Amino acid sequence: MGSAREVLTAAASMDGLAVEFGEEPGGAATYLETGEPLVAGALERFRDEYDAVLKGPVGLPEVRKPDGTEAGVLGGVLRNGLDTYANVRPVRLLPGIRDSASPIDYVIVRENTEGLYLSRGSGVRNERAASDQLLMTRVGVERIVRFAFETARTRNGAPGDGVRRVTCVDKSNVLRSFAFFRDIFDEIAAEYPDVEADHRYTDAAAHDLVADPGHFDVLVTENFVGDMLSDLGAATAGGLGTCPSGNIGERTAYFEPVHGSAPSIAGQDEANPTSQLLTAAMLLDHVGAIGTAKRITGAVEAAYADGSVRLNPNGTPTCGTKGVTAAVLSRL
Ligand code: IPM
Ligand code: MN
Repeated sequence: MGSAREVLTAAASMDGLAVEFGEEPGGAATYLETGEPLVAGALERFRDEYDAVLKGPVGLPEVRKPDGTEAGVLGGVLRNGLDTYANVRPVRLLPGIRDSASPIDYVIVRENTEGLYLSRGSGVRNERAASDQLLMTRVGVERIVRFAFETARTRNGAPGDGVRRVTCVDKSNVLRSFAFFRDIFDEIAAEYPDVEADHRYTDAAAHDLVADPGHFDVLVTENFVGDMLSDLGAATAGGLGTCPSGNIGERTAYFEPVHGSAPSIAGQDEANPTSQLLTAAMLLDHVGAIGTAKRITGAVEAAYADGSVRLNPNGTPTCGTKGVTAAVLSRL
């Protein structure tokens, strides 16, 4: 977050854009202090006062609730609290990371407010069995599918064959809820004759995202499936440290890296800040500071392209967090 704040401030000032920061504590540390995952009033301030929200990773794996789930996780609090129904996760292979026979440049549009994760906090568990429930609603599926088709129409970047397409990723061969999702997808797809409608079962999608990533442009899927596939996609593009995301609603949006907090390397100048930097660029793009967003994305790309930033096999940058920040700052 420190790296992103520095780069965002520098890029904005080059474009004459004044940025005022507020800070809202949240996550596992806040939960340990106060018993709540987010400071009081923050949700309302995110909605009513800030122009944009940049979130850092906030979990601590050992901080658990009695039911065994992680405490201080803000996923449900923010996503359902702000109704940011579209989780937009671009996966793009930056120059110089590795060779790929098939181009990697697609966007996973993950439904963010229902699906299996709506069961968060309300599953049942006893000594002998446990169960969580998946819910899909017509309103929920329609709006995420429309969002995906709009994204295919407007996004920069394209799949290997240049065809604008949305791939519906579901398990409709097994589960009714996914058959419902797919039927609604087909209905909405008819409203977008200029965009190809495509289908993959979740397992085949996982296979093809590795074997033939160049096929994909925009993928739309349920919450839990999108969570898994976005980590898989990140692994093909240099690791979780390179992938940004945005949580978008009608009224509010917040932006965060796809990865978690990695407490074992916190403060050791090891973490890759690239995903948080590209996340800052996504945020700027969303609020209309498109030039400043491009300035940051361009600087990140240049730093990878000329070899100033290289990654170790575990995804950490050889030049450290500060080295990446410096390389990007000097290329803005
Ligand atoms: C993500 C994360 C979250 C999720 C966790 C931390 C709740 O994995 O944003 O992908 O499951 O959605
Ligand atoms: Mn995840």
